Amino acid sequence: MFDERVIKKLGRIDTPFYYYDMDLLRSTLASVKEEADKYNYKVHYAFKANANGRILREIRDYGFGADCVSGYEVQRALETGYAPEQIVFAGVGKADWEINLGIDAGIESFNVESIPELLIIDELAGKKRKVANVALRLNPNVNANTHHYITTGLEENKFGINQWDLEKVVEVLKSLSNVRFIGIHFHIGSQITDLGSFRDLCLRVNDLQEYFVSNRLYPKVINLGGGLGIDYEKPDENPMPDFKEFFALFDEHLQLNADQEVHFELGRSMVAQCGNLISKVLYVKDGVNTRFAIIDAGMSDLIRPALYQAYHRIENLTSDAEKEKYDVVGPICESSDSFGKAVNLPKTERGDIIVIRSAGAYGEVMASQYNLRRLPLPYYSDEM
Ligand code: LLP
Repeated sequence: MFDERVIKKLGRIDTPFYYYDMDLLRSTLASVKEEADKYNYKVHYAFKANANGRILREIRDYGFGADCVSGYEVQRALETGYAPEQIVFAGVGKADWEINLGIDAGIESFNVESIPELLIIDELAGKKRKVANVALRLNPNVNANTHHYITTGLEENKFGINQWDLEKVVEVLKSLSNVRFIGIHFHIGSQITDLGSFRDLCLRVNDLQEYFVSNRLYPKVINLGGGLGIDYEKPDENPMPDFKEFFALFDEHLQLNADQEVHFELGRSMVAQCGNLISKVLYVKDGVNTRFAIIDAGMSDLIRPALYQAYHRIENLTSDAEKEKYDVVGPICESSDSFGKAVNLPKTERGDIIVIRSAGAYGEVMASQYNLRRLPLPYYSDEM
């Protein structure tokens, strides 16, 4: 990804910035498509992972749908040319204007997270004399074995309709005339590397769909959400996850009825490895036990290490001197503004180019202007 020619070009751009390897993005998308197509599975890309215009267009061109979690994402999907019938809209707190937007656009489905929300969608659709498609997001109480901030499928999490509300939701659905029940939806968490969690999910889904069928509500769509993890430790050895194994697991464990569609909402696994945060070293200073490499990128550019103690591989692209240990930190006035402790880097000096790898998902899109910094700009390998 970073040969001499690329490093030279990167060195001419004002840091910090995001650099996207478009070849890697395309080969990842091609792999998702090839493996999902084997089973006729439909993938909606989770916009929240990266909503950068070029990336959204590239993903659209492969024929993927859009998984949105705000009215603004629905708007962006429509503006980018995603067909309304390929847009699903999830989220525990949809405001009335967001629901109205989805109804007016005629989106594929609202993934509904509570009974009160279901009632409001019915009411708003009724006012427009329309019928809105809804899938129920069910909380399967399956442990994703990932960081607790990105675990979503346990009963204590705020997401989805819980087991104890199932009877009630069936009764409510049957009484409403402005919503059409199209399916059931699940999402158990993110950065899941233990595929056993997805097998557990399949077993729960099999039971839960039986429950609906026995209550004469037929889920045409089974939406299994996203969550497939990537290799943050070894991005070069594993530039993309094993989509083949991932989809095959669902084929093996899901029990489907006739005419059912299986949907996924992958985010991170489609875009994480193609993105890098590029930065320069400002100062090197001695600490008590270690040295600090102070770089010009901070938690405002990439918040994952500060927020989730997330690991990202850090490399010095311009030095091949002997290795030393550095705490790689940003310029922001917070102790949590640190990208890695005791990182082994070749002897590092002011002006060296530092890359923080695997930053294509939940990187640029979560950047802020904290400390009144400017937002990092994106650059693309095929436009440089
Ligand atoms: N579907 C739903 C309903 C979701 O809530 C999410 C992610 C996805 C799909 C996509 O999941 P993915 O395939 O990307 O794992 N900012 C955190 C991750 C938050 C994930 C939120 N939901 C991070 O940087 O790790």
